Amino acid sequence: MRITFCCSQTNAGPWLSGFRAEIPGVDISEWAAGAPEADYAVVWAPPQQFLDEQPGLRGIFNIGAGVDALLQLKLPPAAKVVRLDDAGMSVQMAEFVCHAVIRHFREFDGYEQDVALGKWSYRKPRLRTDFPVGVMGLGVLGERVARSVAQFDFPVNGWSRSGKSIDGVRVFCGASQLHGFLAATRVLVCLLPLTPDTRDIMDHEMLSLLRPGGYVINVARGAHLVDSDLIALLDSGHLAGATLDVFRTEPLPAEHPFWRHPKITVTPHTSARTLREESIAQIAGKILALQRGEPVAGVVDLARGY
Ligand code: NAP
Ligand code: GLV
Repeated sequence: MRITFCCSQTNAGPWLSGFRAEIPGVDISEWAAGAPEADYAVVWAPPQQFLDEQPGLRGIFNIGAGVDALLQLKLPPAAKVVRLDDAGMSVQMAEFVCHAVIRHFREFDGYEQDVALGKWSYRKPRLRTDFPVGVMGLGVLGERVARSVAQFDFPVNGWSRSGKSIDGVRVFCGASQLHGFLAATRVLVCLLPLTPDTRDIMDHEMLSLLRPGGYVINVARGAHLVDSDLIALLDSGHLAGATLDVFRTEPLPAEHPFWRHPKITVTPHTSARTLREESIAQIAGKILALQRGEPVAGVVDLARGY
């Protein structure tokens, strides 16, 4: 069995030795043009040439949760595409989103500014019932986030395509219930996959439906959000602020207005990082399961796009 590794912006060495330790005797190497064909690939944003040269792949393992970049390419016909299935990401995402929600709700950003000016000032406590949080996408990450935010006694709404039952979360489903979800939400968290249905979903019309004083936390993909519409709604006062971890172009270009907007907090696509050891163990386990002819979790539905 041969594995090829083709992950942009990733130091291959520790990954290759990790796989060799998990699958003794495996033939694994970093891909270079003209390399021999492999049975399985471990990838992040590979070039089309890589896939064109590997028509016999049986499994393509993405070292992230989101497969949007991969699905834009022409894939080998028989290959299953397999995403990372949590692998330590959901707890990171829950930490990040809870931090952003609480920072906004408790006005820690305002306290930081006051302290920088040497100012000792109290702000009036706010009611968490006035800050219902809505999580779009209730998959591996979104469900964990919704449950975690609910632990802090915020009212929590969730929205997904098919709906599901989650303790402490009021769940809306499908396009017909999006309006009701938004009208019931003040702090909006995006954890949708990027697909043709969800691209540009956070536009002026949609964000206008959030409660006045709304707040946007985008931790999914930059192309879910129409940048100029967010800025217009922040400047009009309908929205109070945003925490943005993902952007249409990454790194966020130096001239982009998000960097300097006083109501926007920028982080560099770091809300849930791929953890190497967990990921290697998970992918190796799935490769061995496929070799035995067993089913594996995290296989992407190519028609649905996630
Ligand atoms: P997932 O398990 O595939 O779940 C996706 C959820 O979105 C599901 O609940 C699905 O509904 C819902 N959904 C999909 N299309 C929809 C639509 N058109 N309308 C309504 N709901 C829809 O995804 P995940 O693992 O939670 O990850 C979500 C995304 O987070 C990834 O795709 C990736 O882009 C992003 N991400 C970002 C970072 C970061 O560091 N910023 C890290 C990891 C992942 P159903 O349940 O009904 O199918
Ligand atoms: C990161 O953005 C991922 O999709 O895992």
